[in-house]
Amino acid sequence: MPKPTALILGASGKIGSYLLQALLPDHRAGRLKLVAGFRRPEVGEALREQGANVRLIDLDRAEIEGLAPLVASLDGVDRVFLAIPV
Ligand SMILES: NC(=O)c1ccc[n+]([C@@H]2O[C@H](COP(=O)([O-])OP(=O)(O)OC[C@H]3O[C@@H](n4cnc5c(N)ncnc54)[C@H](OP(=O)(O)O)[C@@H]3O)[C@@H](O)[C@H]2O)c1
Repeated sequence: MPKPTALILGASGKIGSYLLQALLPDHRAGRLKLVAGFRRPEVGEALREQGANVRLIDLDRAEIEGLAPLVASLDGVDRVFLAIPV
């Protein structure tokens, strides 16, 4: 059975980083594929060093660029966890 790909948006935040740490063992063991969303380069690098796949996703950019880049960034993603301030 193919492993699900889970995207965590807000992976640098309090809730998102907690979830990331909780799921990284499953990612490392190959039970799922974890993708951490980030919007600042230094955050992306830190998340990559922790072993997650990373993807640049800034939801605010949709107002400028439209939805197409956001939709493209979800390619291959089966589940999304989103906990960001509104
Ligand atoms: N922490 C709690 O105890 C708690 C309890 C109840 C409810 N909540 C709610 O849960 C949500 C998240 O809380 P939190 O404490 O985890 O917040 P947080 O520590 O401030 O983290 C917010 C996360 O969202 C990211 N983010 C913000 N705007 C974004 C955008 N436009 N596109 C992509 N990513 C964006 C931030 O990225 P950057 O690092 O780049 O800024 C960061 O990773 C909030 O709505 C909060 O009110 C939190």
